[in-house]
Amino acid sequence: MERTLVLVKPDAVRKNVSGKIISRFEEEGFRIVALKKLKLTKEQAGRFYIVHKERSFYDELCEFMSSGPIVAMVLEGENAISRVRQILGATDPAKAEEGTLRKLYGSNMGENAVHGSDSVESANYEIPFFFSGLELVG
Ligand code: RTP
Ligand code: MG
Repeated sequence: MERTLVLVKPDAVRKNVSGKIISRFEEEGFRIVALKKLKLTKEQAGRFYIVHKERSFYDELCEFMSSGPIVAMVLEGENAISRVRQILGATDPAKAEEGTLRKLYGSNMGENAVHGSDSVESANYEIPFFFSGLELVG
């Protein structure tokens, strides 16, 4: 069993599709271990995406991720990290496969609806970023 951190990004919350996104993960067999809605400050978004701090899109990314509420959740399942990434589709929604969440709900490279941890190391940073041990109820 593996755990991964998923975020419904501000664009998808604004489109009122967070329920559809959560539902998709349940249909795919993941267990929701923890879930909450919150709004990041730009500084918090910057710490969450700190691995990208030297990239040209970092400031725009932090601005967008703090532009409205998000829904954060921890999902559990076999190979959860890679399976969630497959369900998300490519970073650029225009290149994402049919049926993926970014194809369905993403708008462009920046506003791509959903985040999923990309490795065990990332998940180990991202899960405690949002949830304390007591909140992981499985
Ligand atoms: P995420 O972390 O949000 O799940 O997305 P990802 O792994 O598919 O992509 P990543 O390389 O980690 O990039 C994080 C987010 O930054 C924005 N981005 N913009 N303009 C660009 O070239 C560019 N590249 C990345 C995207 O919104 C991406 O989700
Ligand atoms: Mg990433």
